[in-house]
Amino acid sequence: MALWLALYIKLSTANCPVFLSISVMGKTLIDSCLELNWGPDCYEPPEWVGIYRTDPSVSNLLPELRMDGIQNRTGRLQTHIKLGKLHFPGGWEKQDVHEQLVPTKYAKGKCLPYYVASYRGNELLTVDCLKIQPNWLGQLKGIAELPIKHLFLPGTHASGAFIINYSKTKSLLVKDYLVAQHFDVWSQLVFGIRYLDLSVGFKHLDSSSEADNFWLVNENMFINPLVDVLRDVRRFVQRSGELVILDFSSFPIGFYKHPEVYSSLFHLIRQELGDVAYERNVSINEHCYERCYMDFKLAERPLLILFPTQELPHPENESLLLCNPWKRFSTSYMNISQTLDYMRLLFSKKKDSPVQDEGWIFHAISSIEQTLNSHKLQTAKERAALINPKINQWLKGPWGLNANIVALDYFSNTNIIDVVITANTHKAFLASKQKYINLEILE
Ligand SMILES: *[C@@H]1O[C@H](CO)[C@@H](O)[C@H](O)[C@H]1NC(C)=O
Ligand SMILES: *[C@@H]1O[C@H](CO)[C@@H](O)[C@H](O)[C@H]1NC(C)=O
Ligand SMILES: *[C@@H]1O[C@H](CO)[C@@H](O)[C@H](O)[C@H]1NC(C)=O
Ligand SMILES: *[C@@H]1O[C@H](CO)[C@@H](O)[C@H](O)[C@H]1NC(C)=O
Ligand SMILES: *[C@@H]1O[C@H](CO)[C@@H](O)[C@H](O)[C@H]1NC(C)=O
Repeated sequence: MALWLALYIKLSTANCPVFLSISVMGKTLIDSCLELNWGPDCYEPPEWVGIYRTDPSVSNLLPELRMDGIQNRTGRLQTHIKLGKLHFPGGWEKQDVHEQLVPTKYAKGKCLPYYVASYRGNELLTVDCLKIQPNWLGQLKGIAELPIKHLFLPGTHASGAFIINYSKTKSLLVKDYLVAQHFDVWSQLVFGIRYLDLSVGFKHLDSSSEADNFWLVNENMFINPLVDVLRDVRRFVQRSGELVILDFSSFPIGFYKHPEVYSSLFHLIRQELGDVAYERNVSINEHCYERCYMDFKLAERPLLILFPTQELPHPENESLLLCNPWKRFSTSYMNISQTLDYMRLLFSKKKDSPVQDEGWIFHAISSIEQTLNSHKLQTAKERAALINPKINQWLKGPWGLNANIVALDYFSNTNIIDVVITANTHKAFLASKQKYINLEILE
């Protein structure tokens, strides 16, 4: 066991990975700048790094930005290169779904036109790019037969808290404090996110459609209509066949002591997602996390819905479509050193850990309350700018092998999807060697 662990650590630090991410600090997504990242812990940082608009391994164009004299073994640098309007290739634009074309499968992801390369003199050491990974899970060898609880899946927290139209959104409270994602749910899924966390509110409108009464909320504000997101999720799973976990995690407005509102929400879910959601075997009261991707794929129902079934009137609470919620853990009220301690407790999976052999969700976020102690109220973006790179780095080590679901705010300032793919590749390798039970990590 220790040998595999040592090998894993050696492989992941053997070279000096260099990657691009999207800064969270721009006012709008289009205005956001690219960030250059290297490490963690490069033994030998490259002499220089360049950012390009075309693949530098097949073209001779000069870099758009060149950086020399890298000293630190770990680092990140905000560039002045603005993201601009992103276009997803291969039929992965949201609008493309109305066409009959089947979107392209990308086993290794597909580069958007931003590349980064590292060099020693003229020798090309590494090339990476900003990429979409819409099929990573279905294409990754050796994981389809593993129970979901043994996979590492990337997620977003407050997944429905994004802005569609910046000029329409006037409220500073919403823009600075309540929005939690750069990208809409469709784009999150195209980048490779596989777990969505939905907080739902109910507001009775004089509308003929009951669906219009349900909103995605954050804290006490209504942000986006729920039904639009449910339709994006449905289209994505139908067209990609990828596993997506939809977690109805909180109901802060309009649900308290109203089982009929829960019931109405369940009917909406059944209407929009009923034919793509996995049907669990209620006769054996199974936990959905014991199942593997292959089961969902064969049934052509690759969506898992987590819902607090006890809130529903009997007998709806035994719907095949609904899985019981999994344990959730959150760092929202912790500072960085407490977060590190908490991760040590959870990700070690020791006998006294609150996480055992089960599906579980780690919300790696810091809430506004956490920053009340400091002299300045930090915006959601400022908080994500501090915590995300650290979480991303910690998950590159052995903890990644014990992770199940990790959900972030503003995931785009990390390379979490690549981190997850690397960890799952190792999990599949260990499983194939039948060495994988639970890695006991030495502290
Ligand atoms: C390198 O590390 C030093 C000391 O921690 C820091 O002051 C400097 O900003 C870092 N440089 C880069 C490019 O990250
Ligand atoms: C965004 O909102 C503004 C103001 O309401 C409107 O003029 C504009 O057309 C909207 N843009 C889009 C793309 O919907
Ligand atoms: C549910 O589980 C029971 C017991 O293992 C099994 O007999 C039955 O066929 C299963 N039902 C479905 C629909 O898979
Ligand atoms: C469903 O409701 C019945 C009756 O209220 C209750 O006995 C049962 O435990 C509930 N089941 C679930 C899964 O919540
Ligand atoms: C984090 O919080 C703990 C408990 O409140 C405190 O003891 C510690 O000094 C804090 N650490 C930092 C880095 O602020």
